[in-house]
This record gives sequence, structure tokens and C-alpha cells, in this order.
Amino acid sequence: MGTERKRKVSLFDVVDETSISLAKMSKSNGGGGAAANQNAVSSMINRWTGKPYSQRYYEILEKRKTLPVWHQKEEFLQALKASQSLILVGETGSGKTTQIPQFVLEAVNSESSDKRKKMMVACTQPRRVAAMSVSHRVAEEMDVTIGEEVGYSIRFEDCSSSRTVLKYLTDGMLLREAMTDPLLERYSVIILDEAHERTLATDVLFGLLKEVLRNRPDLKVVVMSATLEAEKFQGYFSGAPLMKVPGRLHPVEIFYTEEPERDYLEAAIRTVVQIHMYETPGDILVFLTGEEEIEDACRKINKEIGNLGDQVGPVKVVPLYSTLPPAMQQKIFDPAPPPVKEGGIPGRKIVVSTNIAETSLTIDGIVYVIDPGFAKQIVYNPRVRVESLLVSPISKASAHQRSGRAGRTQPGKCFRLYTEKSFQNDLQPQTYPEILRSNLANTVLTLKKLGIDDLVHFDFMDPPAPETLMRALEVLNYLGALDDDGNLTKLGEIMSEFPLDPQMSKMLVVSPEFSCSNEILSISAMLSDFLLCKHCPNCYICMQMLMHVVEVVMCQIRLSSATVLSREAQKAADEAKARFGHIDGDHLTLLNVYHAYKQNNEDPSWCYENFVNQRALKSADNVRQQLVRIMGRFNLKLCSTEFNSRDYYINIRKAMLAGYFMQVAHLERTGHYLTVKDNQVVHLHPSNCLDHKPEWVIYNEYVLTSRNFIRTVMDIRGEWLIDIAPHYYDLANFPQCEAKRVLEKLYRKREDKDENKNRR
Ligand code: CDP
Ligand code: MG
Repeated sequence: MGTERKRKVSLFDVVDETSISLAKMSKSNGGGGAAANQNAVSSMINRWTGKPYSQRYYEILEKRKTLPVWHQKEEFLQALKASQSLILVGETGSGKTTQIPQFVLEAVNSESSDKRKKMMVACTQPRRVAAMSVSHRVAEEMDVTIGEEVGYSIRFEDCSSSRTVLKYLTDGMLLREAMTDPLLERYSVIILDEAHERTLATDVLFGLLKEVLRNRPDLKVVVMSATLEAEKFQGYFSGAPLMKVPGRLHPVEIFYTEEPERDYLEAAIRTVVQIHMYETPGDILVFLTGEEEIEDACRKINKEIGNLGDQVGPVKVVPLYSTLPPAMQQKIFDPAPPPVKEGGIPGRKIVVSTNIAETSLTIDGIVYVIDPGFAKQIVYNPRVRVESLLVSPISKASAHQRSGRAGRTQPGKCFRLYTEKSFQNDLQPQTYPEILRSNLANTVLTLKKLGIDDLVHFDFMDPPAPETLMRALEVLNYLGALDDDGNLTKLGEIMSEFPLDPQMSKMLVVSPEFSCSNEILSISAMLSDFLLCKHCPNCYICMQMLMHVVEVVMCQIRLSSATVLSREAQKAADEAKARFGHIDGDHLTLLNVYHAYKQNNEDPSWCYENFVNQRALKSADNVRQQLVRIMGRFNLKLCSTEFNSRDYYINIRKAMLAGYFMQVAHLERTGHYLTVKDNQVVHLHPSNCLDHKPEWVIYNEYVLTSRNFIRTVMDIRGEWLIDIAPHYYDLANFPQCEAKRVLEKLYRKREDKDENKNRR
């Protein structure tokens, strides 16, 4: 090895990582002579930074070498060389996400050091958190600064530079990049990771990349997946070679409950406490469904274990969900706390996570897994155009993945909080691909922009229901993004540039016509900030993910319809509402909060005193700046109506309606609201800021619970419906209902008015 690497290693030469440690070894043994010594010294130089590797680099390197993929590096590189696409299947934690892109980078560099333009490697992740976390880890492994050679890109946040050669990005972002760079020419290798998750964006990328591969023989695609749907991927990528990384799992003992649990949250907490009291050392991973539930569980676990006093060891309870700030996300990798005193009972780390920890992130040291059997999943009903995030049972494949998390470092135990019978009979074998249960309006817009006109014949791995595609086309046609022949209009082209759902993009694009683009930008930023993939990773389509307004306003106090508020918290919430609440609707309340934040110079203490969530506002501000940039690209004017004018709020409300005219509910004489055209009974969510029950409201979110709620609502006028969206409020194809009769009257009134005008 020593003589083979005699030449001086330049900054961009290939240095096989394994040879580094050999070189290091020969140096420390004192053998190998001057040549080997020189080699040793130069091999210790980081080719990316030109600096010697740090101590930390070598420490991590030792750990990396124990990962299963490491032993198949050569085999992998050979397979990659031999074919254009490759499928790689391996147990979670085997090192796919962190190592394979580095192997690829090495190979790409050694082959084309002269064609540096094309040497970028992309690795997609369905989840923002994973993209951020893994890129940080890999930057550390490569001993470079994050954002330089190794970067990440997620919606509204690009942490990469011209130096970046390895980029982790959400699948949604790669899709966006394809809109401006259809052949994805900046990449030489694209790795689609977590393919088994079958997110909407990954599924679309499959079809797209298949096409790109045909046009770019120099491009290579690696599809990586955790579970064994591999044959399906192989079939789809016309016989691409399949490489398996054998797992290294220890046995995991599975326990079921005797009887179904009535309250899985309470059962999960109880199980945590019991494990902590009676089981041998080892960390615990609990799967729950969302932020609120997780925070609630963390509090309760701390409290209950705190009550046990010093008869048990110390614990560190860490939450993990997608909106957690990055520094907090890192805490899942902290070690368990040490015993309180020397020789005392060992401590335990307890991670309470959404299904991010199922396959996207691997936490070492987990010995106990608690699986209540639920996850939040998108469910879409095209007939009533309702897409919702529902807590629903997981699949058998998911349950299997979850239990596997317990056997990474030693034999483990998995406690399934459901009966064995239920596992056998009730759980689906696989999770349904997202494309079969999502609203496709945004996807269709993206595909149209990518030049794919024939959606019916697009090569989907699992084609969506024709009805869902039809609905999407219809929505885009109503919005004016597609013409009657299904072709992208000028408006549609601009709309597709916004990383937002089509309703919101439409509202932004037309807002200058209503002299309120500044305000609509602020409202959109406030709304999208909370849309930022609160529960699912890449869903700029999901209007569902809005936090409700009170939550937006409150900083310390988490409210939900399920939480009973203390008197103090209720008082604070009422005060905050009184300060910023706008009687015409929640969107205007959001605007008030944003304005107040800016007027107070983004002062953290002002935020604190006013129960305003500074982190959320800062991020909204960032989103706003990026939206402003997109507006600028299309010469969309930034303007406002005079604040004192009585049209100030009216214009904003009209502009909102121009985007959301398909999300309207009408107050019936019975006192209920019915959604327009679909005639679903809905209720105003109790969090709303209205001081009255308006006859017509637009809503942002449809919440399916025991009652159907509409959340984030605003008062609008019936006349505006027929002025702004006459094509949608065309009574010729309107179901019989009270709303129709009211609209008929409004049309008649308008005709009379027009007639009078003409006569005069
Ligand atoms: O992708 P796959 O599930 O096959 O594995 P990976 O994500 O590449 O993880 C390989 C190893 O890196 C695991 O032992 C992780 O615990 C570790 N890792 C880490 O320590 N910190 C991170 N931020 C990410 C991974
Ligand atoms: Mg992975």
C-alpha cells in the first residue's frame, strides 16, 4: 500500500479513506521508510480543506469502519461503475445515508477531476430534519464546514455554496430544481434515499429520473431503501442491479398487550416508567404521532419518573419532531446521563419521536422500543377535496422497522401497545404510497411546468386514481393555471415558481391587482411558516399543517382543543387575542402579529412579553424575504393600500378570496356551516378570532376529528364570490342548497344594478 501511494497527494487527488489509517499505522509503527512517512503525512491532509485532519475525524472514522456498508464499498463502487442505475437495500443504521454518498463522491472525483463542473452528488431525503441532521453529520465525518463542501437544501433554507460537492436535499427540493434544470445537469450522481417511504415527491422523481437517464447517459442514479420492496424498484428501473447490505441486527423480543389499550399515550408513558424501574440499562425509544403529543408525553414522563425519587436512575427525556430547532434535534445523539453518584444506578436516555426515528434517523444505544401502532398520515378524499392528516394505524412493515430499532447494539425488546391478533388482522402489509392518498394539485402543476403534458401516460410506479388527477386538473383550471385544454397558462407558469400550494401562489400573484401584495406576502409567510412540514416532510401541498392562530400567538403556552387550560394560561391567551385579534378573521390577526413584531424591531423581549413566538416569526420573516425575491423575478409589484383607507382590509380579504374561492363555507339557517358545492357540515374551530358568525367564510384548513372543523377562517362577502370567481360560482353546475339560493339573489341584484346603470 505504501509504495502504491508514493506520489504526492494533491488537494483534489483521491485518497482512499482506508489507506489513511494504514498510513497512520505505519507511521506510528515507525516502519515504512521516508516514502511511507511522506505519504502518511500527505494522506493526513484533508483534500477538501487542505488542512490536516482533526482528531475527531479519526475518531469518527473508526466508527464508520464498523458500519456494514463499509465492508461492501468496493462491491458497491464496482456495481455503480457497471450500470447507470442501482438499487441498494440495507437495514436502517447500516450506513447507507451517511456513507454511500461519500463513496460516490470519491469515485466521481477520481474519474472526472477535469470535469469539475459536473461532479456534484445529490442525496434526497423525504424529511427536512433528516436532510439537516445527516448533512451535519457527514460534514463532520469529512472534516469540513457545513454549507461548504457538504450542504443541505430544504424549502426556504439553502445551506450550500459554490464549493458544495455533496448536497442533501429534500425530494421536494430536487423536484423544484428540475423545474429550472430539467436534466439536472449539475449532478453526476443522484441518490434517492428512503425510497421505501414512497413520498409523493420521491414517486414523481422516479418517473422523472427515468426520463432524464435516457437523455443523459453520463448520469447515474442510486435508489436506496430500507425495507424489501426492492424487487418492485428493480422492476421499475428495468432490471437495475440490486445490492443488499446484510443487516447486523441483534434479536428483538416482541411483546404485545393482552387487551387493546384504550389510551395509547397513557399506556406508552406507563410502559416507559415500568421499563425504567424494572429493566436492565439501555435507552428507550417511544413512537408517538406529533409535536403536541410528544411534548405532553415528555412532560409527563419527567414528572412520573421524578416522583420515583432516587430509587431509580436519572433520565434524559428528548423529544424529536420535524419543527424542533436543529440544536434541539441534535440532543437525540447525546449519551444517557451518568449515575447520580459513582456506582449508582445508571441513567437512561428516553427519546420520544414521530416516525422520523423509524428509518430516517438512527439513534444508537436504543434497547427498548415502545410502539403504540399509530402515525399521522395524509388522507385525501377527492370527492370532497379534503386532504387531512389523520392519526392512523401503521403498517406491518412499519411495525417491523420500529421493532428493529431496539436491536442495533445489543439484543432488545419491543413493546407493541396492541394485541397480536390486531397486528395479524388489522395492519396492512405495507404503507400505501403517498401519491395514492394526496391532493395532487401541486404535483400536477409541477409536472406541467416540467413539460409533462400527458399525465395519464406518465410512468408512475403506482398511478394515482384518475379521479384524483381529474380533480387536480379541475382545481388548476379554476385557478387559471391551466387552460381548458390542460395547458399551462402564463399565470400557471408564475404560480409554479412559488414553493407553495396553488391557492396561495394564485393569491400572491394577483395581489398587486388588489393593491395589497405587501400584506398578502406577510400573511402567506405567516401561513407557510406553520405549513413548513409540521408533520410531514415535503408537503407544500398540505394546507392542513397550519397551527391554529392562538398557538401562533402564544409562546410559552401550548393550546389545543384537547388541553384544558389553567386559568392563568387562559387569561394570557385571552389577552394575546385581545391585543392582536382581528374581528374579521384569523389571517388578519396573523398580519397584526407580524406588523407588531416588525414595528417593535423584532425585539425578543417584546416577543416574550406579548406571548409571541419569536422563532416562528423570525422564520416567517425569512420566508417572506424569499417570496419577495420570487415576486421580483416576475415584476410583480409590491404595494399597499393606504392604511387609513376603509379599503385596506377589504382589499386584503378580496385578494385572499381570489386564491381561496374553492374553500368557502356558508352559514345555513340551521346555524351550521356547509362547505360550498361539497355540502359538508363543518364548525368554526374554537380557536378563531371572529366576534360573530359571518354568513360566508373562507378557510385554510379542514380538520377531521369527531366533528369537522374549519380552522383559520375569515369573513368574506357573498358579492365578492360572484365578482371574483364567477366561473366557479356558476350556478348552472351548482348543487341545490341554501347557498345557491342566496347566490341567485346576489346575481339578480347585480343584474338589476347593471341595468340601472345602463339606463342612466
Ligand atoms: O441510512 P442508514 O439507516 O443505513 O444509516 P445511517 O443514517 O447512515 O447511519 C449510520 C450510523 O451513523 C448510525 O450508527 C448512526 O447512529 C450514525 N449517525 C450519527 O451518529 N449521527 C447522525 N447525525 C447520523 C448518523
Ligand atoms: Mg438512511
